Amino acid sequence: MPSAAQAICVFIPGKNWKLSLAELISFLEARAVKFEVQQISKEFFAASAEDYARAIAIDELGGILKIGKVNGNFATHIAEEAFLRKDKQAREQVKTAIAVSDIVASVPEEATAKTVFGVSVYCADDSLRPTANAVQRFVGSTIKQMLAARGRKSSFMGFAKTRVQPQLSAVEVLKKNLVEDKAEILFCIGKKQTAVATTVAVHNPFEFQKRDVGKPVQRKIFAMPPRLARIMVNLAACTSGKLFVDPFCGVGTILQEALLTRAQVVGVDINPWCVKAANANLDWLTGEYGLDNADYRVLQGDARKLTSKLGKEVDCIATEPDLGPALRQLPTVQYAVRVIAKLERVFYGFLEEAYDALKVGGRLVLVSPYMRTRSGKAVTMPVGEKAEGTGFKRVFLFQEKVFSADVAIKEEMAGMASFVDAEERHRVGREIHVFQK
Ligand SMILES: C[S@@+](CC[C@H](N)C(=O)[O-])C[C@H]1O[C@@H](n2cnc3c(N)ncnc32)[C@H](O)[C@@H]1O
Repeated sequence: MPSAAQAICVFIPGKNWKLSLAELISFLEARAVKFEVQQISKEFFAASAEDYARAIAIDELGGILKIGKVNGNFATHIAEEAFLRKDKQAREQVKTAIAVSDIVASVPEEATAKTVFGVSVYCADDSLRPTANAVQRFVGSTIKQMLAARGRKSSFMGFAKTRVQPQLSAVEVLKKNLVEDKAEILFCIGKKQTAVATTVAVHNPFEFQKRDVGKPVQRKIFAMPPRLARIMVNLAACTSGKLFVDPFCGVGTILQEALLTRAQVVGVDINPWCVKAANANLDWLTGEYGLDNADYRVLQGDARKLTSKLGKEVDCIATEPDLGPALRQLPTVQYAVRVIAKLERVFYGFLEEAYDALKVGGRLVLVSPYMRTRSGKAVTMPVGEKAEGTGFKRVFLFQEKVFSADVAIKEEMAGMASFVDAEERHRVGREIHVFQK
């Protein structure tokens, strides 16, 4: 029997789903939460977690958009029968699974106002994907009928025909209070199993935006989005009380996210203007988020001489050194190779120093440039090999032990210790490496 705190959850990732999955695994492992990932796809993950409250702490994750608590499960072939072959009996089975969703099962007796609810369909099954809109309408009208049978009026949030995926955005869920009202159903069609879940947590883009454009000192050109900064902090296994360092801290975007985990935070930058800026931003953050007794300092210095400032007791480092000049157009391969060669001295000097500064078992999360070129080939820096030469081990987060037996992890995924974060429009993207001493 699962314990009271245990639950099966579905997680809706951001665009870079493997990075989101890596973050989630690292986050749960760092907090010693027992969990098992049962389904993965770019649409959603399903996982059982022993400490439900920790697993749904969405404000502490940068890469997860929604989390749902699974109320019911059925084999996806039933959904195929119901929606592709329009089998009546299969449709009844789907209705039975929907009946256990919070909105139907626990609708408050005394409520008189109309219940507003939404349904979002996430489909990892290729054959069913074209029917996602029809599935969404079926689930919506089934819930409406079930509520009516209990004497409840309801209003189902329909979508305009132009909406590509029948899914509510995080902002829509927030604005309609669907989490508090337990009124968004996530219908997650996996390759083998389909889950009916109720949204219990949603990403708040306004909070992350506040930390991005609301902080007193900003520097647009080098800015890292706070969501990515939070992902890096989680990949570094940063938790309360740990000594966290960003040795190329700029205006302190990564430091901010680390401070929110209640770590002891140190920033270093060679540029005195950045030191002042990061300090001002952290002062602002502690006031804005009421972080009493926040422990932070920002020092001027060279990241290649870290131990002279910090000693050798660092738990986690997450950082982004300079990634080269801003480019107006796609470079040639030769130009990209030259840029990367120029940057290597700082990166490699820093790697040795980071190894020295970290405790045994300490993590380093390091961004290196991923340069697109005119030939279509990307030019990258061989940071992985260099780090291993320094003594670091690569961290493989997609290990067999975190997945249930029926999740087939491809070799390519099992061997991932770095993640590319680069949209098509980016000339220079990021490669995010995870290392351990
Ligand atoms: C890409 S920016 C970091 C941006 C940062 N993540 C932020 O959100 O503002 C790289 C920073 O590294 C600093 N830097 C460059 N060389 C350095 C060195 N050798 N030691 C320390 N800092 C250095 C630069 O001044 C710059 O602020």
